[in-house]
Amino acid sequence: MANRFVRSDIVDGLAVVTIDRQDKLNALNAEVIGELGATFDALRANAGVRGVIVTGAGEKAFVAGADIAELAGMGPLTGIAVSRAGQQVFRAIERMPQPVIAAVNGFALGGGLELALACHMRTASSRARFGLPEVKLGIIPAYGGTVRLPRLVGRGRANEMILTGEMIDAAEAHRIGLVNRVHEPAVLMDETRALMTRILANGPIALALALESVDHAAATHTDAALLHESDLFGLLAGTDDMREGMRAFLEKRAARFTGR
Ligand code: COA
Repeated sequence: MANRFVRSDIVDGLAVVTIDRQDKLNALNAEVIGELGATFDALRANAGVRGVIVTGAGEKAFVAGADIAELAGMGPLTGIAVSRAGQQVFRAIERMPQPVIAAVNGFALGGGLELALACHMRTASSRARFGLPEVKLGIIPAYGGTVRLPRLVGRGRANEMILTGEMIDAAEAHRIGLVNRVHEPAVLMDETRALMTRILANGPIALALALESVDHAAATHTDAALLHESDLFGLLAGTDDMREGMRAFLEKRAARFTGR
């Protein structure tokens, strides 16, 4: 069935996923979450897709959060179910083997910021604003915000955002390491594509295993993480891509990776 709110355009191996529910500032209701999950499942399984950029439709918002009108009627059990459904989709995004960059084109609030946090990197328009306003609504961020934000920017800075519920601008987000790069709105997508193109010039298996190692290390103690890193390194030593990458360096030419 065709998606109503999430579209995915694939050009030259790069998928741009756009959340398009502009009249509600691209807020995430259950339908959008479901469509996001299905879209990323399809992209993960698509061998022709090498990288993904996620953005919001329109000039104003990336995603202005979970849909408050929908949340307003929840009770404790539906609250848990809503949180887990979003967490599952965002975790699957975080575990994508292809690199995923959030291009934050406007408000990234609540679940919108949490979506950006689940991506592997973040670029932002100079007009973007970031915040976790949940406490203003009497709830907490529960699509992974209390877990991922402290890991990215440190506990003190995360606590400030989580406890005040206040927004920060793109320059501040860049300063604290919440976003990798800030661009003028008109060039955000081109610059994000250019960043992804530089990434995609590298070996695809190496990219996937680098992401796996970083993800595994985040939840594992040092010795186990180092062992896992060695195993992945050993696995890469059996690939055509490793041989091609090293041969190309020695022959002073660009590598032609095949993903084998
Ligand atoms: N859930 C549901 N609807 C939302 C929404 C959300 N998270 N964020 C915005 N909308 C809706 C508004 O209700 C409004 O709908 P309407 O035109 O039918 O009344 C529409 O999107 C436009 O938003 P509006 O508030 O009029 O725009 P604004 O420019 O005055 O303010 C924001 C923009 C982002 C500051 C404001 O919309 C906001 O604070 N949104 C909620 C953010 C939030 O708390 N997110 C966390 C949720 S857990």
